[in-house]
Amino acid sequence: MLRPILLALLSTTVSAYIWPSPQLDALEALRFEQSFAAFLQPCDLFSFNSGGDASRSGRSNAADWIRTAYHDMATHIVADGTGGMDGSIRFAEEQARPEDAGDGFQNTITALFPGSNRYVSIADMLAIGAIMAVENCGGPEIAFRGGRMDAGEPNSPGVPQPQGDLDSHIASFARQGFTQMEMIGLVACGHTFGGVQHAPFPDIVPDSNDPNNTQSVAHFDSTFVHFDNNIATEYISGTTQNPLVIGQNDTTNSDKHIFGSDGNTTMSSFADSPELFASTCAELFARMLDTVPSGVQLTEVITPLPVKPQILSLVLAGNELQFSGQVRFWNMTQDSNRAVRLLWEDHFSGSNNATLRFTRAISSSGARNTAVFYTFSTADNISFVSLDAAAGITKMWFAVNDKVEDQNGHGFAVQDDVVFSASSCFHFDLNQGSTGGRFDIAVRNGVMPTRVYLETETRDSVDRPIVLEIEVPPPTQGAAASANGTEYSIWSVQIKGNQTSSMYTVGAEVDGVKGTRNGPQSIFFFSQCA
Ligand code: HEM
Ligand SMILES: *[C@@H]1O[C@H](CO)[C@@H](O)[C@H](O)[C@H]1NC(C)=O
Ligand SMILES: *[C@@H]1O[C@H](CO)[C@@H](O)[C@H](O)[C@H]1NC(C)=O
Ligand SMILES: *[C@@H]1O[C@H](CO)[C@@H](O)[C@H](O)[C@H]1NC(C)=O
Ligand SMILES: *[C@@H]1O[C@H](CO)[C@@H](O)[C@H](O)[C@H]1NC(C)=O
Ligand SMILES: *[C@@H]1O[C@H](CO)[C@@H](O)[C@H](O)[C@H]1NC(C)=O
Ligand SMILES: *[C@@H]1O[C@H](CO)[C@@H](O)[C@H](O)[C@H]1NC(C)=O
Ligand SMILES: *[C@@H]1O[C@H](CO)[C@@H](O)[C@H](O)[C@H]1NC(C)=O
Repeated sequence: MLRPILLALLSTTVSAYIWPSPQLDALEALRFEQSFAAFLQPCDLFSFNSGGDASRSGRSNAADWIRTAYHDMATHIVADGTGGMDGSIRFAEEQARPEDAGDGFQNTITALFPGSNRYVSIADMLAIGAIMAVENCGGPEIAFRGGRMDAGEPNSPGVPQPQGDLDSHIASFARQGFTQMEMIGLVACGHTFGGVQHAPFPDIVPDSNDPNNTQSVAHFDSTFVHFDNNIATEYISGTTQNPLVIGQNDTTNSDKHIFGSDGNTTMSSFADSPELFASTCAELFARMLDTVPSGVQLTEVITPLPVKPQILSLVLAGNELQFSGQVRFWNMTQDSNRAVRLLWEDHFSGSNNATLRFTRAISSSGARNTAVFYTFSTADNISFVSLDAAAGITKMWFAVNDKVEDQNGHGFAVQDDVVFSASSCFHFDLNQGSTGGRFDIAVRNGVMPTRVYLETETRDSVDRPIVLEIEVPPPTQGAAASANGTEYSIWSVQIKGNQTSSMYTVGAEVDGVKGTRNGPQSIFFFSQCA
C-alpha cells in the first residue's frame, strides 16, 4: 500500500524569508511570477515545430520539460551521492545516449537556459520548468527549493529504458532513491503528459500520417497536455492506448510491467481518487526535483513574499538620488481605488513618502496566484522617486491605503553607500567599429570601501553562469567631490568593446564585508559622453 502522504501545505507551514536575499529573491520571482510560462500557454504549445501548426504536432513544451527533469535526475546513485538534478542533461554527450533518445532535451534547454543566472542554476531552471508545466496544465502546486549546482561534465548513464525488464526497473528506481510503489507513482505522474514519438522509437510507434499529429506521437492517455488521473482510469478500465502498455512487442511494454507490478493496487487507488493522484504526484515530483548530488545544500521551500521590492536602482544625479524600481503585492488584483505609498527613512532620521503608480497585474500557476506591481514613479514622465542626495535613504516600507507593510517591523533595508552616478556615459568609437563608455560610481562620504568593482555575468566553458568583477580605481586626488560639492566622491572605470552590451551591478567591500549593491544598469541607460 502507499504510505500516507503528508503534503507540505505551501502557504501555512513555511514562512517566507526576510527581504533582501538576492538568491531567494531571484528564485522566488522565477518560480512564482513564472515569466517562462509563456511557453505553456496554451498547454499544447510546442515551440520547436518549425513551420508547422504547434497545436497539431502531437508534442508539447510541457511534456518535454517534465521528461527532461526526470532524465536529468535519473542518473542519481543513492549509494555514492553522485548524479541527480544538476543540469548535466544539457551536455550533447549525455543527450546522444540511447537512454536519452529524442530532441525534447535540447528543446527544453533552449527554452529554459536563458532564465539561469548567477543566482539560479540551469538545474534550478529545469526544476522550475517541470513545476510550471504541472501547475499550469491542471496539476497540483509543487514545493520548490532552489540552490541546485550545475555539473561540469556529463553524469554516468542510468535512465531506465522501455526494453528493460521489471527487475531492472525496480533496481534502477532503487538506485535513484525510490521504492517500487514510488516508481509506479512517478511513472504514472510523468506519463499523464505526452507520449512516445515515432522518430526516436520507430519500433514502438508507427508513422501516423495524421495532419493533427504531425510528429506521430502515440500518447500515454487521452488528455496528454493536461494533468489528471486518466493515465490510471484508462489503464484500469482497459481502454488505454498507452503505447508502453498495449505495444505489440511485450518486451517494450514498460508501463504495463511497472503499473501491474503490485497487482494494480497503486494504479487502482489513483483511478479511484484524482485527489490522491494529485497529492501523490506533488510529493513525488518535489522529491524527484530535490534529488541532488550529495554536498549540494538546497534552500528552504520558497514561498511568495507578500510584499516584495524589485529591480531597484539608485543613481546619483546632482542633488538628487533617483530611486527606481517597483514593489509587488502578492495575492492582490488591480483596484483603481487603492493608494500605495513608498515611505522611507534617511540618514538624518527624516520621514518621507511618495505615492506610487500602478503598472501591471499578473496571474500565474494556472491562475491560482495573482499579483500587482507599482512602479517607483510619481508622474508619467518620471521613472523614479527623487530623494535628497545629502539625506539619502536607510530603509523603506509601504502603505497600502493606510495599512503599513514593513515586514513585521523589519522594514526594507536600502544601501545608498555606493551607487551609480548619472555622469556615467557611453560613446561610439566609429574608427574601431566598437562602443565604449565610462562608469562613474558615487561613494558616499564617510564610507571607506577597500574595493569598489563592477559585476557582470558571463558563462564558463560549460555554460554555467559566473560573475566577472571589474575593479574600479579610487579617485586619484583623494575624494574628488561631486554632488552638493561634498556628499559623494566619484570612482571611475572605462569599459569598451564587447563589454558594452552587458548589464552591470555595483559591488563594494566595506569594513571587510563584500557585497552587491543595487540592481543592474546598462551603460546605454546614461547619456553619450561629451
Ligand atoms: C521505467 C521508467 C520510464 C520509462 C521506460 C520511460 C519511457 C519513456 C519513453 C520511451 C518515452 C517517449 C519519449 C519520446 O518519444 O520522446 C517517454 C516519454 C515521457 N516520459 Fe517517460 N519513462 C519512464 C519514466 C518516466 C518518469 C518517472 C517520468 C516523469 C516523472 C517520465 C516522463 C515522461 C514524459 C513527460 C514523457 C513525454 C515526453 C513528450 O511527449 O515529449 N517518464 N517515457
Ligand atoms: C483534425 O482536427 C480537426 C479539429 O480539431 C478536425 O476537424 C479534423 O477532422 C481532424 N483531422 C483528422 C485527419 O483527424
Ligand atoms: C521486441 O523488442 C526487443 C527489444 O527492443 C527486441 O530485441 C526484439 O527483437 C523484439 N521482438 C520482436 C518480435 O520484434
Ligand atoms: C491490471 O489491470 C489491467 C486492466 O484492467 C489488466 O489488464 C491487468 O491484467 C491487470 N494486471 C494485474 C497484474 O492484475
Ligand atoms: C488572498 O487574499 C484573500 C483576501 O483578499 C484572502 O482571503 C486569502 O486567504 C489570501 N490567500 C493567500 C494564499 O494568502
Ligand atoms: C507624506 O508627505 C507629506 C509631505 O510631502 C506629508 O504632508 C504627509 O503627512 C506624509 N504622509 C505620511 C503618511 O507620512
Ligand atoms: C513632466 O511633465 C510635466 C507636465 O507635463 C512637466 O511640467 C514637467 O516639466 C515634466 N518633467 C520632466 C522631468 O520632464
Ligand atoms: C571581452 O573580450 C576580451 C578579449 O577577447 C575578453 O578577455 C573579455 O573576457 C571579454 N569581456 C566580456 C565581458 O565578455
